[in-house]
Parts: sequence; C-alpha cells; structure tokens
Amino acid sequence: MNKYRYLVDFDTDKIETEYHDVIIIGSGIAGVYTALEISSRYNIAILTKETIDISNSVLAQGGIAVSLDKEDSPELHFNDTIYAGAGLCDEKSVWVLVNEAAENIDKLCKYGANFDKNNQEELSLTREGAHSKNRIIHSGDTTGKEVCDKLISVVKTRSNVKIKERTFAVDLIVENGRCKGVIAFDEDKSTYRIYLSQVVVCATGGFGQLYHNTTNPEVATGDGVCLAYRAGAELMDLEFVQFHPTVLFHPQNKSFLISEAVRGEGAILRNINNERFMPRYHELNELAPRDVVSRAIFEEMKRTGSDHVYLDITFKDKEHLENRFPNIYKTCLGYGIDMSRDFIPVAPAEHYCMGGIRTDVFGRTNIEGFYACGEAACNGIHGANRLASNSLLEGLVFGRKIGDEVSSLMSDKTKSDVKLSLRYESGRKSGDEDINHIIDDIKSTMTENVGIIRNKDGLLHAKARIDKYCEAFEERKSVNIKDLELQNMLLLSKLVIESSLEREESRGAHYRTDFDRTDNVKWKRNIIRKKA
Ligand code: SIN
Repeated sequence: MNKYRYLVDFDTDKIETEYHDVIIIGSGIAGVYTALEISSRYNIAILTKETIDISNSVLAQGGIAVSLDKEDSPELHFNDTIYAGAGLCDEKSVWVLVNEAAENIDKLCKYGANFDKNNQEELSLTREGAHSKNRIIHSGDTTGKEVCDKLISVVKTRSNVKIKERTFAVDLIVENGRCKGVIAFDEDKSTYRIYLSQVVVCATGGFGQLYHNTTNPEVATGDGVCLAYRAGAELMDLEFVQFHPTVLFHPQNKSFLISEAVRGEGAILRNINNERFMPRYHELNELAPRDVVSRAIFEEMKRTGSDHVYLDITFKDKEHLENRFPNIYKTCLGYGIDMSRDFIPVAPAEHYCMGGIRTDVFGRTNIEGFYACGEAACNGIHGANRLASNSLLEGLVFGRKIGDEVSSLMSDKTKSDVKLSLRYESGRKSGDEDINHIIDDIKSTMTENVGIIRNKDGLLHAKARIDKYCEAFEERKSVNIKDLELQNMLLLSKLVIESSLEREESRGAHYRTDFDRTDNVKWKRNIIRKKA
C-alpha cells in the first residue's frame, strides 16, 4: 500500500481545474464551523462525499461538554479529560479545549443552535461517563442534528462558500513540501477534477466502517486520514479505537446509539440474568470511562454466553423518557421495545477513533498549507480514550483555531501563487472482482481481531489477511467510489493493526491480553510516518 503515491492517474494539463483559496474536506461540525470561522474575504469550497447533511456529527446524540455550572470549572473538565485519556492526553491541547469551550458554545448559540434549558432559562446540564460534574449541554437526544442543521443553514447563506456535494476527495496534491490542493472525483459526472488552493483543511471524520457494528454512517471509511498519509502527513495513535458501550442490539439494527446520557440519567446495566454488574468492575459503576464499561460488557457477555446485555431505565416514567429522549424512545418503540417498561438490549459497537492526522493546537500538520480538525485529526486531547461529549466540542474549538490561523495567513496570497503542472501514470489495470465480499472480510477481520480485546496472535492473523488483500488490490485501478474506499479501508486496516502490534501494553481503548498492564515508562505517542 506504499507503492503508489496517488490512487488515480491524472494529468493536470488535461483535466478540469478550479481554484478556491481554501478547500475544506468534510461537512460535519468541524468542517462547517471552520468554514464559518474563516474570514469571508476568502473563497472556500467544502467538498463532501455525500450530501452536506450526512456526517457522523449529525448522528451525535448526547451533547457537548462545557463547564458552565457554578460548581464546575475548566480545571475540573481538564482533570476528567485527562483521567479518561489514561495518561496519554496532550495537556496543552486539553487546556485549549476546556478553556475555549464556553466562548465557542456562545458562538454556536448565536448561529442559532437551540439547547434545552432549565426552569431558570439557563442551559440544562446533564452527566455522562467519567464526568465529575453535570456539564453536558444537549438538545433532546439529537444534539448533533440540531447543531449541524443550524450551522449548515448559516453556511448556505455565505456567498464566499461553495458546497460541492457527492465529491470524493481522493488525494492531496503536494509539491516541494507545500499542499496545493486536492484531486477529487465528481460522482454525478463520473469525472476527476483538480481543486487548487492555498490551504486544505481535512475534517472527514473517522473510520467506523472498518468494523461490522458501528455507530458511524456509511461514509466513515477514513478517506481523509488515508489521503493525508499518502501525501506524507504524520498520523498518530491509530490503535486507540473507542467502542461505545450501549448500541442497540436488535436483529434489524445494530448501529443505533443509546446515548450515554441515558446512563447519565440513572440507567443501569444488567447481564442476561438480570444482574447489575458494573459495581464489580469500577467504582463509578455505569458512569465509568467508556473503555472500562465496554470491556466490562464484553466480559459479561463472554461469561454468560450472550451477545448482548440490557440497559434498564424502567424506573423512570414514560412521560419523562419521551420528553428527554424522544428519538431513542421512538426508535426503540419501532423495534417493539418500550424503554419505560422493557430493558433495552445493547452491545458495544465501534464509535470513535482517538488517533488520526497528527496536528498541533492550531490544526497544523507537518505539510505546509495542510490542516486537520475533528475526528480525522489527532492533537492528543483524547489520549487513549475520549471523554464523553468532548468530540463535538473538539470540532468547534479547533475548527475555530484553524479559521483564525488561516484568515491571517492568507492575507498576502493570491490565486497566481498556486501553479501546477503534474502528470501521474501508474500503469494500474482495472479489475472485475466483486469487492463486496472483500469489504465484508475486512470488517470481520477487524471486528474479530482488532476490537475491544486484542492479542498478538489475533493481530498477526489480521495483518496476514489484510496484507494479502493489499498486495492483490494495490495494482487495481480505481474506477468508482467503492474502489477508492476499498483502497482506503485496506490501508487504514493495515495501519491500525500495525499500530496495535507496536503498542505492547494495555491503555485506554487499546487492551491486549498478552500485555495487560499499562507501561508508563516505555510508552508515549505512536507516530506513524509513511515508509519510503
Ligand atoms: C452519546 O450520546 O453517548 C455519545 C456522545 C459521545 O460520543 O461523546
């Protein structure tokens, strides 16, 4: 997977080219907020693989963490983030996150986002796992949708922002160490196009689609992380993959999240024998850090020979649940589960990647003109395990940092600064194999061997399997989005497995039975650089 620099062949003198000052890849909270925070003097294009309203952010239920209560403070939010991150958070980045949270929430409210309020008309604050205070603002149980809908409606009014839907960013174009734009596939026209720019911001989200069961949408195939890697950007900490403990477990739906806020409101976990088990695993019980709860559920499922456990909130009355969790209530009811009377069957599923494109607190990568934010990026704020409801916040805080930086950086640059004449010919040939079963096998391999519990034998088995596919498919010419996604999924699987093998310890979301202790002496960051 290192042989070819670009996934597709092209000649910049022959294909359609357009210029924008800034290209943003991805239309979740991080991408759209960044666009709004860049000075309107600059011309921006947002490239999004599907329609603008499809992203992981839109699906976020619980809320956004911010220390607003008089009993709370950025210091306490900092401490909780560091504790959940299992000793691997970058403290400087976490301080930026917690200190700049409130001002960004304020801004979000000015953009029109509506959050639930209490009787005093203050923002209502709930609790989630590993938070020592109530500090999660929310909009029912569809916070991500509320925020994204409002941001998208504002961005659509900005005349300096063009939204390019069904546009798949394939590769970054980098010359002499400087990012000059992107080559992208226009799905409607079935053609490639070059987008030249001064700056590219990658906000493409995570890679949950490497696993069978994930809360992520179908678009989450890690394309941004892969294009960054191929261009020579450093990646970091890819072994840390977070599994959300409570995802609906129903024959027709194994991806619908049952928000941690349900446990924040008191729900308890029971095994299939109806026994509450979390007190045996952690003093914070159901509100222990996510990695702990997911592993405890995994253990209980194994111990009782079951493929799920239950979430019990039947002690709350129906009206309260319908009002507080309207989406979860309705969705469960659609599957015949009335959460005011029935236990909800749940199991862990892939949810979030702590690792990604290595950046500093300004979103800068090691490539000039290339930035990253949101789940695709990794500046160390989440360490080995993300604290609940820090992810939408991350998109806001670091999106704005990029917005500020890019606005000042761009002042003296013009279109004529970006010139490009590049031809890339690899000689790859198109293939006719059905790739659906390969994608299915990648997911099985990752789910079985690179999931909540790992060990060397399983990781080596997964590596051998993925390496075989990499070898076979590297020579295949990509002719559509499915082909391009396959290449990215193979590359990322390989990198996640290699990172997991490399980290010979257990920490946060990375748990190895053959190294079941945290090794505080030997291990720090896991930086991934493309091999020559
Ligand atoms: C949830 O609502 O449980 C998800 C929130 C998050 O991922 O931080």
